[in-house]
Amino acid sequence: MKLLKHALVAGLATAVLVGAGAAGAQTAVTGALRADQPGPVIQPEVYGQFAEHLGRGIYEGVWVGEDSKIPNTNGYRNDVVAALKEIKVPVVRWPGGCFADDYHWREGVGPRDKRPVKVNVLWGGVEEPNSFGTNEFMDFAELIGAKTYVAGNVGSGTPQEMAEWVEYMTSPTKSTIANMRRANGREQPWKLDFFGVGNENWGCGGQMTAAHYTDLYRNFAEFVRVPPGTKTVKVASGPNSDDYAWTETLMGGAAKSMNALSLHYYTIPTGHWNKKGLALHFDEQEWADTMVQALRMDELVTKHSAIMDKYDPEKKVGLYVDEWGIWYDAEPGTNPGFLYQQNTMRDAMVAGLTLNVFHKHADRVRLTAIAQMINVLQAMILTDKEKMVLTPTYWVYDLYKPFQGATSLPIEINSPAYTVGKSSVPAVSASAGKDTAGVVHVALVNVDPNKSATVTIKLSGVTGKTAKGRVLTAPTMAAHNTFDAPNAVKLADFKGATIKGDTLTATLPSKSVVVLDLN
Ligand code: AHR
Repeated sequence: MKLLKHALVAGLATAVLVGAGAAGAQTAVTGALRADQPGPVIQPEVYGQFAEHLGRGIYEGVWVGEDSKIPNTNGYRNDVVAALKEIKVPVVRWPGGCFADDYHWREGVGPRDKRPVKVNVLWGGVEEPNSFGTNEFMDFAELIGAKTYVAGNVGSGTPQEMAEWVEYMTSPTKSTIANMRRANGREQPWKLDFFGVGNENWGCGGQMTAAHYTDLYRNFAEFVRVPPGTKTVKVASGPNSDDYAWTETLMGGAAKSMNALSLHYYTIPTGHWNKKGLALHFDEQEWADTMVQALRMDELVTKHSAIMDKYDPEKKVGLYVDEWGIWYDAEPGTNPGFLYQQNTMRDAMVAGLTLNVFHKHADRVRLTAIAQMINVLQAMILTDKEKMVLTPTYWVYDLYKPFQGATSLPIEINSPAYTVGKSSVPAVSASAGKDTAGVVHVALVNVDPNKSATVTIKLSGVTGKTAKGRVLTAPTMAAHNTFDAPNAVKLADFKGATIKGDTLTATLPSKSVVVLDLN
C-alpha cells in the first residue's frame, strides 16, 4: 500500500478525532497488564538529552550571550530554558559526541574574551569561540534542574588533563585548580553526576581497537577522582550499534572499573549512511522502513545486555544509550556539517517506540540521551534566531513525563503486523509504569498511518477506574511544526479510553502516541 509519494506538509491543528484514519479501517489488538508484578524503576535519566558543540545546538540553541537581543538570563535564552524545564530534562550530556575527544577544557574557562578561538574541524569547519565552557555548562544544568554528564577527552587528551578537569569541577579544597574555578566565579564545587571516559573511541574518538581502548579506559578512569563522600558515575565508551565484540572485550577487561557502558545507535530510515533519506519528503515505504530500523533498538539492548550479564550478573553496570535518534540527510540548503533536520510525526513514532523499549529494559538501561537537544538531528526544539518551535518529539517527551521514576510494569501486547513491502512491525506497541503516587500509566503507539486500532487490555492489580490521557497525532505522516505554524502538531486531550471491570479499551487514531493515566 503505497500512499503519499512525497508526503505533504500538514497545516492543520490537531483536533483529535478518535478513530481517525482511512474510512472504517481498524486494527484489533489485545493485551495484558500486570500491575501486580512490578519491575525495576524507570530511572528519570532515561529521559536525558545530548547537547554537543555542533551546528546551532549550543550557540543560538542554548547560549546567546548576555548582550544578545534575544531575551536571556546570564546568556541562556529564556524561551529554551522554560521549554526544557517543562519537560523536566533530568540530565544533559556535553560537550560531545565527537567534539569531546577534540576538546581541551582549559580553553573554555576564564574571561570569555581571552578564550582561544578554535576551528570545529568535525562539524562544518566553523569557528568555535569557546564562550560556552565548563562554567557555562554546569550553571546551565543547574538552571534547568538537570544532572550533569560530562564527556572527557581520551582520543587527544591525557589522564592528567582529565584528572585536572574533574578537580576543577568538583574539588572543595583550596588547590590552585579549585581556586581557578573560584576566580572564574564559582565558589562551591558543582555536582558532577556522570563522567564519560571518551566517546566513540572506535571511531572519531581515536580509531582504537577494543583491546587498546579497554587498557586506556582502565588507565584514564583511574584518574577520574572525586572528593571523598561524593560519587561520579564513570561511563566507558561502548559499542557502535551491533558491535558485540566491543562489548565483550570491554566488559571482559574493565567491568570492575566502570559503572556504566554506553551504546550508540541511530535510526537511519533507509538503512544506508550514504543516502539516509530526507526528514520531510518520504513515502509510506520509507515510513515503515524507519519503524523497522527504530525497533532494532530492542534487539541491540537485549544482546548487549546478555553479554553484560556474563561479566556482571548482579547488573551493577548500567547500559547507557547516550546517543540515539533519527539521522536524516541534512535539510536541503543548510550546512551539511550542522546536522539540522526537521521533525515530523515519523520522529514522534520513533521516540514513542524507543522509549517503550527502554521501559522494558529498565533493569539495565538507566540513562539515555537523545541526539540532540536543540537544532541537531532528532531535536526537541528548533530555533531560528529569536524564534523557537517545539517539535513532535518534544511533545512525546512531554507526554511520557509520568514515566520518569515510575516502576516498570509488564505489559504484553498481541498486535497484528503493520506491513509495507518487506518491512513489517507490530502495529501497536506499549509500555506501562506505576508512579510514586500509585497511579498506573500506559503508553500506546500506533504506527499504522492509515488505520486506527482498538486495543483491549486485561488489567491485573490496577485499582484505577478511569482512563484519561493525552494524544499526539496529525493528519499526515510528514506533519510538523514550523516557525510560521508552530501548533500544527500538538497534544490534545484523549477521550477514547474506558475501563470496564478489569478491561481497558482504547481506540487509537492512526499514527498516534497516547499516554493514559488509570485513576
Ligand atoms: O550526534 C552526532 C555524532 O554522532 C556524535 O558527535 C558522535 O558521537 C556520533 O557519531
